Amino acid sequence: MTFTTHARYLTDGWHEAASTFAVTSPVDGSTYGHAADCGRAEAEAAVTASWQAFEAWRTTSGFERAALLRRWQEAILARSHEIAQVMSAEMGKPVREARGEAAYAAGFIEWYAEEAKRVQGEWLSSHRPGRRALTMRQPVGPAYAVTPWNFPAAMITRKAAPALAAGCTMIVKPAEQAPFTALLLAELWTEVGGPPGTLQVLPASDPVPVTEVMMADARIRKVTFTGSTEVGRLLYRQSADTIKRLSLELGGHAPYLVFDDADIPRAVREVVACKFRNAGQTCVCTNRIYVQAGILETFTDALVEAVSALRVGDPTSEETDVGPLVDQQGLEKVEAHVADAIARGGTVALGGSRGDGLYYQPTVITGVSADMQLMHEETFGPVAPVLSFETEAEAIARANDTPFGLAAYVYTHDLARALRVAEALEYGIVGVNDGVPSVPYAPFGGVKQSGIGREGGPWGIDEYLEVKYVSLGID
Ligand code: SIN
Repeated sequence: MTFTTHARYLTDGWHEAASTFAVTSPVDGSTYGHAADCGRAEAEAAVTASWQAFEAWRTTSGFERAALLRRWQEAILARSHEIAQVMSAEMGKPVREARGEAAYAAGFIEWYAEEAKRVQGEWLSSHRPGRRALTMRQPVGPAYAVTPWNFPAAMITRKAAPALAAGCTMIVKPAEQAPFTALLLAELWTEVGGPPGTLQVLPASDPVPVTEVMMADARIRKVTFTGSTEVGRLLYRQSADTIKRLSLELGGHAPYLVFDDADIPRAVREVVACKFRNAGQTCVCTNRIYVQAGILETFTDALVEAVSALRVGDPTSEETDVGPLVDQQGLEKVEAHVADAIARGGTVALGGSRGDGLYYQPTVITGVSADMQLMHEETFGPVAPVLSFETEAEAIARANDTPFGLAAYVYTHDLARALRVAEALEYGIVGVNDGVPSVPYAPFGGVKQSGIGREGGPWGIDEYLEVKYVSLGID
């Protein structure tokens, strides 16, 4: 399948690109399409359009914005099969999973359409009889989003929906591996009547020129990024010059703790979903499975059996559970991590080798030690390292022994332990007997070097609102 829409980008309207870049499908290495290749000139035009659109958009009522967002949500749901196919072809997500992502993406729009009507202020008690004190919440201003390839739809709506609901305008720079899903979402926004300049999409083969313009321009008041900690650090520094608001959803290194009182079949089922969805390419995929010593063998055997049942193949097929890695670099990282684990004494209990093209066999590694590369860096691939622990205190200490703090998982039937461990884990998200906790209405985000800010739920819209205090003399 080839993407037929010509190479366009969206600022104050749709424009034909002066130059394009080829997007290679990880499915078979073919050219999936040619995307607009935006640079400084397009970025400068986008900032001006965003600023101009903001003047009118900020004054629309939350109810108007809600109605428009709802139409966008409905349009996405109506075209979710097509969106899923585009996603699957351009970045390799199994199409069944991609349909789930389209619904997840629409779920953020639904949530923030509702929140748009609830951007409220407060009336404060005042100690001065002739004064009244009140607050109002107002949009931060034009926002810039840099979005990742691993969730090409949901990571856009998780940012754009709260921004638009709050009255901000937004410019999106989608990942170079997955620009077409972003363009399709933008097309639906314009089709349902999204005003020119409110949502813009600038694909680019090189993110640097576009991002430099955005970071240097004081009219961009907010930056939101999902991606690596390394790039997040750079954006954090760059945002200092014009003091931009910033949200960063960065890397993770999720531990998965299975205690000996856990429901083992459930813990296995959910670790498979947690680890192998999107071929292990999510920020919240577990990277370290710690199993209490007494159940290590039973758990590992059951895990190997469950993982060996996963069907690897063409992600555009309904049958596929695990598709290819997104690109050569991703595949090489997985190979390097497995080779390093073997060299340091690890045992490949299942998989451990690449297939054709960008495919890698779902892999389980045992005999894992703390010095292995995969214990320090996100593998971002279908590799499950299994380790054992003896005590609760040890499990917590090892889980927290990382600079990252995005998601962690705990499996136990002991309520007191569940709460104790959830409290002690230094993570922004803890799944207790839940391997896939992300939902549009809950806060998503990390602590330590996994980021700042939260997306989702009421927290997500706060990132796009300023609180203004008004002191009113009435005497
Ligand atoms: C991510 O990997 O950044 C998002 C994962 C999710 O929303 O569950």
